[in-house]
Amino acid sequence: MTPGAQEPPTRVLHRVGSKEELLRAKRVSVLLGGREVLVLHYRGRFHALDARCYHSGGPLQEGDIEEIAGRLCIVCPWHKYKITLAEGEGLYQAADPKPGPWCSKGVKQRVHSITESGGDILVALNDCVDSLDSDYYQSERYRATLPSR
Ligand code: FES
Repeated sequence: MTPGAQEPPTRVLHRVGSKEELLRAKRVSVLLGGREVLVLHYRGRFHALDARCYHSGGPLQEGDIEEIAGRLCIVCPWHKYKITLAEGEGLYQAADPKPGPWCSKGVKQRVHSITESGGDILVALNDCVDSLDSDYYQSERYRATLPSR
């Protein structure tokens, strides 16, 4: 390492469960480092993303998965927004007057890295400093608006 250079920060890996457990469950919503994260398995791959929809906090755990324009998306159960599983992009289809091609609104939902090690599924939270729309629904400010449980 070059003198004066800093070590890259070590990413914290959160164990979500064993691969076997998660394959059985197909979807789990877990609290990792203060974030509610949805971990799901679909077509042979695990995905991890913020569990509350960037639009208005809908529960993505209950969303269907569809392939849209060749990309796997979770469809929010509340207002049917489509979010790509791999990048967290919001997709929309302009209608003028007929439905046109699918377009991207950009990355709206925070997605997290997921790896497998020794039979366990591990998530590293996406610590990109840029604010994403889904961040609000992970905040204390948002949680304060929820009815007490
Ligand atoms: Fe998800 Fe509105 S809350 S589409």
